[in-house]
Amino acid sequence: MPAQLIDGNALARQIRQQVQSRTAALQARGVQPALHILLVGDDPASQVYTRHKVNDSTETGLAATLERLPADLPEADLLARLDALNRDPAVHGILVQLPLPPHMDAHKVIEAIAPAKDVDGFHVQSAGALMTGLPGFWPCTPHGCMKMLESIGCQLRGKNAVVIGRSNIVGKPMALMLLQQDATVTVCHSRTADLKAHTLQADVVVAAVGKRNVLKADMVKPGAVVIDVGMNRDEAGKLCGDVDFEGVRQVAGWITPVPGGVGPMTRAMLLVNTIEAAERASA
Ligand code: GUN
Repeated sequence: MPAQLIDGNALARQIRQQVQSRTAALQARGVQPALHILLVGDDPASQVYTRHKVNDSTETGLAATLERLPADLPEADLLARLDALNRDPAVHGILVQLPLPPHMDAHKVIEAIAPAKDVDGFHVQSAGALMTGLPGFWPCTPHGCMKMLESIGCQLRGKNAVVIGRSNIVGKPMALMLLQQDATVTVCHSRTADLKAHTLQADVVVAAVGKRNVLKADMVKPGAVVIDVGMNRDEAGKLCGDVDFEGVRQVAGWITPVPGGVGPMTRAMLLVNTIEAAERASA
């Protein structure tokens, strides 16, 4: 029997509805939750992503501002702008769209965001909070993956989880979140000697590499839950993930599609972080 699909669109819709009621509750107390997005330069993909973020926000009642800045803006000016936004009580979430132009140091820029407004969860303090189990913002993509696992009633305690990919934005925080739920976590990456030996033991596999067909049917334990974070294009230009979907769905118990899986959940979790930031600021 082929795997059941985890519908990211449907789950994201539910989450947006929850954000909408939390937003209404804050508005009733006179607080308008607000997200401020900074887009430096005119990278075409970033323009699309930021437009989605603004639309998602306004649809749920959050105020969203997209501030466009020139590609040759001096880094010091961006840091000064962040300082002003950090101090502005009407702004609850701040997001600097990546990538930044090459003359800017992305680490320095992210560290200039107040952790209380770091709705991307990229600040080193947010990363430290996740690592130690303290309250803080979690990066949206792995947080969305956890929500997907929760939605199918996946009990992680004692399970083998394999994360493929070790990025700061997905792989590493994903491993920490799974560990926090008492899974036994293995992180595989481009230098892993025998990926298949690890994935065949896994009850849960999260593929977050950015390369097609990293996970194939003969690498998956029957009944496993497979979460595909990848966003790639095939030869025909069609959107696809890191997982050989057609093959793996014959073996797995659950699988996320691409598109319509992790992508919408990432977008939804940004709204959750923003409403959370607004609630904390006005508690
Ligand atoms: N560029 C691509 N994805 C993201 C994201 O999630 N956050 C930010 N800030 N930039 C991105």
